[in-house]
Amino acid sequence: MLIQAEMQHKNVVSLITTFATSAQIHMIMELMSHSLRQKMISEGALCEKDASWILHDATNGIAFCHLHGVLHRDLKPENITISDHGTAKITDFGLSTNTKGLTACGTEQYKAPEIWAHEEQTTSVDMWSLGCIMFEALTKRLTFPQAKTSDMIAAIDSAKVSYPHSLSNVSKDLIQKLIVRKGGSRLTASQVRHT
Ligand SMILES: Nc1ncnc2c1ncn2[C@@H]1O[C@H](COP(=O)(O)OP(=O)(O)OP(=O)(O)O)[C@@H](O)[C@H]1O
Ligand SMILES: [Mg+2]
Repeated sequence: MLIQAEMQHKNVVSLITTFATSAQIHMIMELMSHSLRQKMISEGALCEKDASWILHDATNGIAFCHLHGVLHRDLKPENITISDHGTAKITDFGLSTNTKGLTACGTEQYKAPEIWAHEEQTTSVDMWSLGCIMFEALTKRLTFPQAKTSDMIAAIDSAKVSYPHSLSNVSKDLIQKLIVRKGGSRLTASQVRHT
């Protein structure tokens, strides 16, 4: 919560205020129009143009967080939101931590292999998630569609993705540089911003 309050950037949803009742803590956030998940449900596979500006905006927000030593660790289509003005912003730092966290957390489909393997986590865990989100947004397929969790974890651990022919070479090339087993070999947010 405090982390999101500190992350003031045009591509990060603003935390306006917080207050506590006896049982709960309430967070008042900037109101967004809809999530990337909702856009994917209503429109199906995104066109490259939409995927590109959403990727660009989300990456700006992620780069800002990474620059300040903050990992998001729960990036997923629900946590990328879109404003009435057509700006994408990342939200939900509930599972965030300062860099080099070791606690297993995050949404299963988008979780990086080092999280499953209980290895050290760095900012590159978010870049893996971003690759999975882009794959799904552009293809309307899960990146790791294995029905059994153990099969999914094995596929994640080998970074084995089946790329459909419908995916353009440019998109495939970018996603292939994000869904890489070794965190240190993935593109950084700053590098994606300059692609
Ligand atoms: N500031 C916001 N404005 C509008 N919708 C939002 C905002 N923040 C979150 N949402 C949407 O509200 C819904 C619930 O969000 P919430 O963060 O509680 O759960 P989630 O992201 O789906 O899952 P999790 O429980 O893992 O966080 C999501 O669909 C999300 O996209
Ligand atoms: Mg959320």
